Amino acid sequence: MGLSAAVDGWFSRLGRLTGLKRRGGPPFLRLRRAYAPPPALARQAPAAFMAPVSQGAGADAPPGGRLYALWSAEPDGHKLWHYFAFYEQVIGPLATRPLRLLEIGVWRGASLSMWSRWLPEGSVVVGLDHDPAVARFDRPQAGIHVRVGDQADAAFLGRVAAEFGPFDVVVDDGGHVAGPMIESFNALFLDALAPGGVYIVEDLCTQFWEAPWRDRRDSFFDYAKALADAMHWHHFGRPRIEAFTLGDPSRLAAIETPRIAGEIAEVRFRDSIVAISRRAAPGLPVIERR
Ligand SMILES: C[S@@+](CC[C@H](N)C(=O)[O-])C[C@H]1O[C@@H](n2cnc3c(N)ncnc32)[C@H](O)[C@@H]1O
Repeated sequence: MGLSAAVDGWFSRLGRLTGLKRRGGPPFLRLRRAYAPPPALARQAPAAFMAPVSQGAGADAPPGGRLYALWSAEPDGHKLWHYFAFYEQVIGPLATRPLRLLEIGVWRGASLSMWSRWLPEGSVVVGLDHDPAVARFDRPQAGIHVRVGDQADAAFLGRVAAEFGPFDVVVDDGGHVAGPMIESFNALFLDALAPGGVYIVEDLCTQFWEAPWRDRRDSFFDYAKALADAMHWHHFGRPRIEAFTLGDPSRLAAIETPRIAGEIAEVRFRDSIVAISRRAAPGLPVIERR
């Protein structure tokens, strides 16, 4: 057996034992943890949930809806079909008045044009991208503004927010790498998204792939799931609903929590896309007992 075959055999045995999987190139540099069923599912799901089934390709019938119709009239795009209904569900209720929308990732301008045509007259659409070539899509007279910079650069994001914010909607369709997506969210959610607004991150399928998409231990999904937990901060270790019940003598007037806990209204997931809504006004939940 040659040295390379011996190394291969050794790594595949190590992989079976540890769950680590080898990628190409020098083996000692290229180990990664293979994605496995989430531990809580693996621990609790009944056999019926985990039985292997064959999932067929999705139907080829295009989605309906005005947003898809607008997007499909544009050249140069690629989007998962179910995003369109998701966007209509999440942004649609806000679009009863002109909105301010920021999109990270302009590429060839298809989605900027789609947003601008879909949102109510008078809306402001801002695109940012680190590629200077996107400057050609800047059309201030049409309410479309483009700025060039990196989505992980908090100072740049602050300048965009000062110029055009606060935004009702932020869509991150930029680099799809965990770190920069998290940096953008951290810079924008409290400081550039209006109360009652929504922050959407798409193409999160990347978070189940390898480097460069996963540049840190936590994926954007991990972060979004943690934000969903954080939304419940006031319940942590407080097993009495009376604390929030109208008219109850032990109802709490206030609780100290981290600020972010009181700012999350909703975290909504679909395949590869998540929408995190900001509360219109922070405050504890109210329970009514009849
Ligand atoms: C998927 S394309 C955007 C597509 C566009 N939203 C659409 O639907 O037509 C991603 C864009 O993000 C940009 N991008 C990648 N990494 C970035 C980063 N770190 N900061 C800013 N823009 C980035 C790329 O230059 C590219 O134009």
